[in-house]
Amino acid sequence: MHEESLQQIPRIVVLISGSGSNLQALIDAIAAGTIIATIELVISNTAEAKGLARANKAGIATQVINHLEFSSRDAFDRELIHAIDDKQPELVVLAGFMRILTTNFTQHYHARMLNIHPSLLPQFKGINTHERAIEAEVEQHGASVHFVTDELDGGPIVLQAIVPVLDLDSPTVLATRVLAQEHVIYPIAIKWFCEGRLTLAKNTVLMDGHPLPAQGMPYLA
Ligand code: GRF
Repeated sequence: MHEESLQQIPRIVVLISGSGSNLQALIDAIAAGTIIATIELVISNTAEAKGLARANKAGIATQVINHLEFSSRDAFDRELIHAIDDKQPELVVLAGFMRILTTNFTQHYHARMLNIHPSLLPQFKGINTHERAIEAEVEQHGASVHFVTDELDGGPIVLQAIVPVLDLDSPTVLATRVLAQEHVIYPIAIKWFCEGRLTLAKNTVLMDGHPLPAQGMPYLA
């Protein structure tokens, strides 16, 4: 047997809270063979998340861990860690997971947890990014994939999709164009990680062993 065939296929656990369109993009990329990996589990903090149905349809195990049932953020995160580690994933993917994570959690998954955020970080951390981009009259907006650290939306950036802001853009219209780009760049970054090309060393993102610039790799649609 070749050494390659003995290697493990990377296992992924995905955390969601909502529609799960980024989860769908990942499911599709794996189904198409673009990414060689398995999604072992999709966890949502709410039973209402539409993404759960997407996972079910793809035959992926799901689990709801409702944050409201826990007395503290810490207790919730400990339960999350328990559920995630049970699957021994190489990578944890945050895909619209709308909970602030404790330092204990982010450190536990240091260098093996990615997030996508709908802005050109470090601009517009937090919520309502599209409204704020239009209000600030920026010419360019977009989305960023980054490694997760304990600074909210502040971890080292891997890849950014740049989306021009047009004169007549409403937040909803702009969000739709940004989301379409999210579905392109998130699978690319996850593929790089699964292939062992993307790593984090002392808070510097390395691609094929070479440091990326602070803004990550630009992706122009
Ligand atoms: C995306 O805009 C993502 O950037 C943000 O939350 C949204 C999730 O959308 N973190 P979906 O659930 O993947 O459709």
